[in-house]
Amino acid sequence: MNRQGSKAWFERAERAIAGGVNSPARSFAAVGGNPPVVIERGEGAWLIDVDGNKYIDYLAAFGPLVLGHSHPAVTAAIAAAIDQGPLTGAPHPDEIRLAEELCDAIKGLDQVRLTTTGTEAVMSAIRLARAYTGRNKLIKFEGAYHGHSDAVLVRAGSGASTVGTADSAGVPVGVTQDVISLPFNDLERLEDTLRQHGHEVAAVLTEPIVGNMGIVSPAPGYLEGMARLTREAGALLIFDEVITAFRFHYGSAGDMLGVIPDLYALGKIIGGGLPAGAYGGRRDVMAAVAPSGPMFQAGTLAGNPLSSAAGLATLGVLKQTNPYPRMDRLANDLASAILQLAHQYGEAITLNRAGSGFTVFFGGQAVSDYTSAQQADKTRFAEFHRLMLDQGVYLAPSRFEAWFVSAIHDVDLIQQTVEAVDRAFAEMTSR
Ligand SMILES: Cc1ncc(COP(=O)(O)O)c(C=O)c1O
Repeated sequence: MNRQGSKAWFERAERAIAGGVNSPARSFAAVGGNPPVVIERGEGAWLIDVDGNKYIDYLAAFGPLVLGHSHPAVTAAIAAAIDQGPLTGAPHPDEIRLAEELCDAIKGLDQVRLTTTGTEAVMSAIRLARAYTGRNKLIKFEGAYHGHSDAVLVRAGSGASTVGTADSAGVPVGVTQDVISLPFNDLERLEDTLRQHGHEVAAVLTEPIVGNMGIVSPAPGYLEGMARLTREAGALLIFDEVITAFRFHYGSAGDMLGVIPDLYALGKIIGGGLPAGAYGGRRDVMAAVAPSGPMFQAGTLAGNPLSSAAGLATLGVLKQTNPYPRMDRLANDLASAILQLAHQYGEAITLNRAGSGFTVFFGGQAVSDYTSAQQADKTRFAEFHRLMLDQGVYLAPSRFEAWFVSAIHDVDLIQQTVEAVDRAFAEMTSR
């Protein structure tokens, strides 16, 4: 596969952009260090690079593109919104419609505030929990990525752990002193910690199904226990559903799993591929947000008309077509085939799947938290990633990310992918 064009573009990128990428997760540093592929456009389930090579897309732009690229309903909604002027700086109907739709769809979401990114949504939810409880400490979980605000870059996952900056430089010690990072899926540790520090804890923050140390589901009873312990401590439970909301069904993962948090952070799918985030939850807690209350948070681009239109169109298609059972089935077929091929070739893998998202960990150990996720074989994943890319399958360039099956994938694409996995495992095990 000729990727001379990507190479040339990336040389330019490295001169003009820090590290050549506008988000570290896009770099190929963790998969052998080749220049990343420079993508010219997305079409349905495909990514097309600047050299004209085509890739079946399982990245889904790290989650938002649940309908694939350029869904006609979404592009039409964006075009119509542009015609009305992309930004006004005043309240407008689509942001109100989007807020109403989110509140209707998600149990426990009485009110929201729209933001521009998931980072802001999480950051603001934490500030709100601190304002509401009058406490400072935050409990989060090792290897979980919640955006790039200071407090959540303590033992963080996703791109941060991929590029070795799980504890980012530049985060003041004062901030880290108020953050307690615990292993996920260990209720006893949470209980001990809350027994000791509960009276100082403003919030416990987690993804209900973790997407950023690879997919890791909560052990049975873990989230219920977390909710109970958090409530008993007088702290707020925040679910970061930036990835998970509208990924598994039309609503949140929390309500799918039967655990409703005090606050949610949302993003990705709710913006239909345009910049968007939101935080919200209990009405009495949201009353603390300015201008009603004393917790300040704002945004020139928040509730952006284009993002609101794209989000509404995406949610509209999801609601109308309910692609979730089909996405689930396709992901299950693909995951089962990968497991079967791994068995056939003697390649030790663990596959963690939640609905249409899954992660293939090389090495074979069970993965239930960050420590076990880190044991996944980096070199083996890098080789697999390269072999898949060279066959036209685009996976996230990190062993800590997910494959996302989208509404646009079909049986043929899954079959092509299975054949590529077959050839990749054959090559990896032939030496
Ligand atoms: C769970 C989770 N929370 C928050 C964020 C931050 O969102 P954004 O990249 O839109 O700032 C991400 C991004 O990957 C995420 O996966």
